[in-house]
Amino acid sequence: MSLIKTIHKWLSLLVGLQLLIWLGTGLYFNLMDSVEASGNQYRVRVVEPNVDSSQLIEPKSVLQEFNAAVTLSQITLLAKPYYLLTHDKALYPYFKNQYTLVDAIKGKQVLVDEAMARQLATASYSGAGKILAASKQTPPFDDRLKEKNTLWRVDFDDKINTSVYIDAASGRLAAHSNDDKRFVDIAFMLHFMDYTQEGSFNNVQIIVFAIFTLFFALSGFIWTIELGINGQYSLSHLLPKRFIKNNTKSVQVLGLDDTPLHNISLSGHENLLDGLIHHDIALPSSCGGGGTCGRCRVKLTASVNLNVKITASDNQQFTPEELALGYRLACQHNSDEIESLTLLDDTQADKHQLILASSEFISPFIKELKFKTMSGKPITFKAGAFMRFFIPAASGNTVPTALPHALSQHWDHIDKHEFRHDSCSRNYSLANCVLPIDGLELNGDVHGNELHFTIKLHQAPKMANADLILPGVGSHFICNLLPGDSIDAVGPFSEFCAKPISDKAMVMVGAGSGMAPLKSLIEEQLFKFGTSRPIHFFFGARSEADLIYQDYFTALAVKHDHFFYYPVLSRPTGKLASEVSGHPFVTKGYVQDRLATELAAITSKAAGIRDIEFYLCGPATMMTSTIEQLNAYGVKDSQIAFDSFV
Ligand code: FES
Repeated sequence: MSLIKTIHKWLSLLVGLQLLIWLGTGLYFNLMDSVEASGNQYRVRVVEPNVDSSQLIEPKSVLQEFNAAVTLSQITLLAKPYYLLTHDKALYPYFKNQYTLVDAIKGKQVLVDEAMARQLATASYSGAGKILAASKQTPPFDDRLKEKNTLWRVDFDDKINTSVYIDAASGRLAAHSNDDKRFVDIAFMLHFMDYTQEGSFNNVQIIVFAIFTLFFALSGFIWTIELGINGQYSLSHLLPKRFIKNNTKSVQVLGLDDTPLHNISLSGHENLLDGLIHHDIALPSSCGGGGTCGRCRVKLTASVNLNVKITASDNQQFTPEELALGYRLACQHNSDEIESLTLLDDTQADKHQLILASSEFISPFIKELKFKTMSGKPITFKAGAFMRFFIPAASGNTVPTALPHALSQHWDHIDKHEFRHDSCSRNYSLANCVLPIDGLELNGDVHGNELHFTIKLHQAPKMANADLILPGVGSHFICNLLPGDSIDAVGPFSEFCAKPISDKAMVMVGAGSGMAPLKSLIEEQLFKFGTSRPIHFFFGARSEADLIYQDYFTALAVKHDHFFYYPVLSRPTGKLASEVSGHPFVTKGYVQDRLATELAAITSKAAGIRDIEFYLCGPATMMTSTIEQLNAYGVKDSQIAFDSFV
């Protein structure tokens, strides 16, 4: 079903775009000036004078002298008499025809040369323009798609760029064209999808589009049936409002940690996603309620929401365990099915003004930043959440301004120069978690009121001209803020979070600034939930200097016998005898290789590989290769949660 929905969505875009084109061009055809559209604004009817037929030679002698002809006609061009022999006559003049033009007085063949073409064009033209150029051209012609004969094109320098076409064999005036006519031709091309300029609407593009439209209709029909089966349609949707009993219902809305937030009144025939919006509770959504994005997640309180149905979309977005715990998509359920629900994602997704409390390099290229809210109110968030920062237009420098002297050697190779950037927004994951108890201190944050981030200063790629590409404008702006500076941010948003609490082992794999959400998840498990489930943390860095929080995680591993830390260096600068004190040891290589060597031991302590949850965050190459590796070991995608960042 998800394939059907995906097909339907993309086809709707395609069909919708073409419908807009049809609507726009159709409207234009109705409103356009037909004279302008014809290209004949400056065309005049050429009236040739009568000629003295007594001077003409006998047609018989012409027929004897030249190739066999099917017709012979006497014509007048530029006041002179000619015989036109037609050797091969097609149905229309613009089809391929073969002519011989003969001087009717001298009996000699006449070729329509440039001078004659210019005179013929001028005779048919009433505008004020002068001839710019004349050229003999063979088909195809942009202005005359169906023309199959060789033509002289004579261009005039008037305001509408008139071109006059003269048949090079017969002197026939084939057509006038100009910018208005050319615009009409483009509109026809779009309207008839004639992109290969066949001059016909019976083309391959239209046939393919018709097939796509058929699939669009069929997929929509199948989707509609599915929605109907899931109870998305009821008679109340079809009846006028005055006939509908106003069956509103009171629903309790809980925040994270199951704290009651509101008691709201929701209409029974409205889905929860729409109903919550009317109470200013905006759940994330990127499919607009189609049931495909999986972002409008809520948790129904199992004890008071017995027998809430599981729709096909719920089935696709949640694991059986999550469904059993009451996880559902808000867009797929109405208020009349439920008594209470827990908001999972948006309770604090408001705009905040944040003040930088501290900013510190924790590696040559990564800073730890700690913010508080300007209002002083704490922000509640789930571990793994992120905030979206609004970066104003500003100037920056490719090298951080307050770079500690000890780190300057790492920035020596960077060209130092100023750059300007426009305003933008950037997402950064939180690196801490909300503590359950006031007064508990963790990493310097006594009340859990701070928002911690680990942000990597992204450098511009090396180019021949260093000015061509900006470094990371968001990371440079934020990392150059000074304590006391403020910045606007919205959030937190939770898309990457721990699965419902269980005893399953957790394996976390990260690298670089992918540290942030994993650190947050680890702290949540150890300090908020006090879990005893095994947690294995694989973290990769280039060298010892990049191995952030090494002492911190080493100490955690020493203190908690169910927490295991596996630091890995891809390019160590010293000897690996620099293993940290006792436990655990730094190894050389890539983090996914270390995972491969440890996975068998981890699995043997769990109930099997299916009994392990995996959480990944790091560079795309690391994530792709880790996911492929895990899939090869039989790990299902539903066991892997990942946060992709750049
Ligand atoms: S809004 Fe996308 S699944 Fe509900």
